[in-house]
Amino acid sequence: MRVAFFEIEPWEEKYLQSRMAAMGLDGKIHPCFHPDRLTLAHASALADVEAVSIFIYSRVRDDLLQALPRLKLVLTRSTGYDHIDLEACRRHNITVCHVPRYGETTVAEHTFALILALSRKVHKAYLQAQRSDFSIEGLRGFDLYGKTLGVIGTGSIGLHVIRIARGFGMRVLAYDIRPNPLFADVLGFSYTDLDVLLRESDIVSLHTPLTPQTRHLINREAFRKMKRGALLINTGRGALVDTDALLQALEEGILGGAGLDVIEGEEFVKEERALLTSPSASEAWRHVVQARLLLRREDVVFTPHIAFNSWEALQRILDTTMMNLKHFLEGMPINTV
Ligand code: NAI
Repeated sequence: MRVAFFEIEPWEEKYLQSRMAAMGLDGKIHPCFHPDRLTLAHASALADVEAVSIFIYSRVRDDLLQALPRLKLVLTRSTGYDHIDLEACRRHNITVCHVPRYGETTVAEHTFALILALSRKVHKAYLQAQRSDFSIEGLRGFDLYGKTLGVIGTGSIGLHVIRIARGFGMRVLAYDIRPNPLFADVLGFSYTDLDVLLRESDIVSLHTPLTPQTRHLINREAFRKMKRGALLINTGRGALVDTDALLQALEEGILGGAGLDVIEGEEFVKEERALLTSPSASEAWRHVVQARLLLRREDVVFTPHIAFNSWEALQRILDTTMMNLKHFLEGMPINTV
């Protein structure tokens, strides 16, 4: 089977090749490796490719699938799959596999990196010290101990965030469409409805997937319900938050700060060239401008979608991707979405 891997670093290529050999797949798979993301421009060179392995910056849409006539399998090396048009894959009879678990502790730890950066003004202190300003003016933070954390989405990541928060001595409120009372009992948190969570939380952290139901879950109305001066942390997906409303909430002081690992339209912010091929250029430009306005602010801590990015997590991603490929080859696909 010809498999094209995209968004691959040199160490990942070596690692994958060693895994293929160890799993006895080296004769069965003919891989090629590309550092860049998969786009329509690659299609002509991939006419005989049967599987592609991508990360989140490759968009799989109907036009791409039409250009890859032999494609049977899309392996995304991520948990989220909102960059893939699942309906189009279904129409083309293409299986999509993801990596359901690899970094729940990794992302949860990063969530706290953002929370602590804001609560103790680490980013601001760092920038001041870089300017040889060692005064402590404007650098007073607040304790997490005794504060209330609102966790939206209590899946793999949300539960680890709660576990860490309990270690800090925080009270935790949670909202999920599928609550898990057993975990609430064991970890010592309470489920509540979204309005109560927004009203009572000092920090709100987002851990749901991006779906039509969760798009702009945090919008103008939600911000209006939040405690004045609360922090918003988003390591889920950018579009969980309405960015216009976020900017407004920061400007009006409704929010005391935002810790963002993800922002709407981050693919355009990361690579402005992608604007040129965007089907909705005005929307894409809008996100770029929003991002610039956000990143200028001292009350925003931003990381460029790196919550997953630890060595341990990346190796787990590659291991699961190879298992997904092996099971597909054996006619028993796993981790399908
Ligand atoms: P998960 O599937 O284990 O948990 C998601 C939870 O959200 C579930 O408990 C589900 O019931 C809940 N949920 C779904 N729709 C909801 C709604 N409308 N309202 C309230 N709750 C809802 O997923 P996991 O592994 O915890 O990951 C969560 C998200 O984090 C992923 O979908 C992905 O988008 C994002 N992520 C971000 C990473 C990063 O590097 N920044 C890395 C990995 C994941």
